[in-house]
Amino acid sequence: MNKEHFSVTKLDKTFGATVRDVKLSKLTEGEVKELYSLWLRHSLLIFPDQHLSTIEQIEFAKLFGVMEFDLAPISNVRSDGSIRDPVDDDVVKSLRGNMEWHHDSTYMPIQAKGSVFTAHQVPEEGGETGWADMTAAYKALDPKMKDKIEGLSAYHSYVYSQAKYKHKPQEESEFSGYGFDVDPHPFRPLVKTHPETGRKSLLIGRHAYGIPGMSKKDSKALLDELNDFACQGDRVYHHSWTPGDAVIWDNRNLMHQASPWDLNEARVMYHSRIQGDASSESGLNYL
Ligand SMILES: [Fe+2]
Repeated sequence: MNKEHFSVTKLDKTFGATVRDVKLSKLTEGEVKELYSLWLRHSLLIFPDQHLSTIEQIEFAKLFGVMEFDLAPISNVRSDGSIRDPVDDDVVKSLRGNMEWHHDSTYMPIQAKGSVFTAHQVPEEGGETGWADMTAAYKALDPKMKDKIEGLSAYHSYVYSQAKYKHKPQEESEFSGYGFDVDPHPFRPLVKTHPETGRKSLLIGRHAYGIPGMSKKDSKALLDELNDFACQGDRVYHHSWTPGDAVIWDNRNLMHQASPWDLNEARVMYHSRIQGDASSESGLNYL
């Protein structure tokens, strides 16, 4: 194992690092181990100038776990090259929703472990991806708030989070999506313990609603307060994409969002999603 040849530069944030002098399509076993431990340490790894093919992207993602799905375009461009309607198209409604902070797949029985994301075509302006560090956010909470939320849980639903975009996620739509709501909606603690680092983090985001024992209004107010507090300052990083960039993030302790862009302009990204461990990422009612 060669521990010296990667060039790792920490972001000026509570998390994240840029890794250079590495070729993701040609990793040795030793390099994979090293990258895995770097990933657990920094939660977000950014790899400039990789230009992975779709097959190389899937192969890379598989080094980090079992796949929830191999590859999905996150794009406002149809396969014939035309741009989707910026308002009425179901796929674009899902893109608009993803501009709010969230963890992936929390409305599914098992939330995602992590994701690989690559940039292929990016707009002139905007369209960055942001991540927010929920471990640092939990740590920074007032002790009274920590006491208040310890033991609280919320339901997670994609129908709930997409309702404001007048989007009803359903299998018949052109938006085939990456999973739909399940019945019952998964129930997840607001404070999650990371299965590999043992560190506590907030598990919140746009899919969460309905904390039992609280009115709808109070539950939303508490979740909004936590989201607002969590996603600010040096706990947040927005990455400005260059085609060829690849990233991998830990979905167990980071939230993410897309920044807005002119939806008349093309943005083509590819997303590979790594499945969570059933013993640690299942909803409490799916264990
Ligand atoms: Fe997402």
